[in-house]
Amino acid sequence: MSDVPTEPSTHPIGLQINGNLHQLQVPPWLTLLDLLRDELDLVGSKKGCDHGQCGACTVLRNGRRVNACLTLAVMCDGDELTTIEGLADGDRLHPLQQAFITHDAFQCGYCTPGQICSAVGLAREGRATSRAQIQEAMSGNLCRCGAYSNIVAAVEEALPHMGGPRL
Ligand code: FES
Ligand code: FES
Repeated sequence: MSDVPTEPSTHPIGLQINGNLHQLQVPPWLTLLDLLRDELDLVGSKKGCDHGQCGACTVLRNGRRVNACLTLAVMCDGDELTTIEGLADGDRLHPLQQAFITHDAFQCGYCTPGQICSAVGLAREGRATSRAQIQEAMSGNLCRCGAYSNIVAAVEEALPHMGGPRL
């Protein structure tokens, strides 16, 4: 046996998730999605493809939408994350959550957390002002139930109501 030192198998990171600080030790290969779901029990973010192709895992990282399945947890040290669990204000739903209910914008609901987080990020980007632009900007979020027309209607209705810090 050689005395070659081995690399530490975990790294310390600090994450602000939905307003709560988490100090964690993570292996370098752990994805943000697996950290959220398997270690922190934040199972709202869904694993669809695990390859960056469906958007079911979309969360907000420092306000920008990202695919959590393509993001290594260790890359997020010091970041602020918002998941679907962090959008409501107590019993008051986020405008997008309410709009999804109003427009019946889901069937099985599997894609819905990612759709809503993606739309929150889209609102921050401020670049979608028409139905066609919303469709284009949300095209990374797939819905196997085909609820697209209702999803776009919900996002279209909610976007004007999403100014201010709750975004
Ligand atoms: S699970 Fe991340 S994009 Fe499909
Ligand atoms: S509501 Fe079922 S996948 Fe979108």
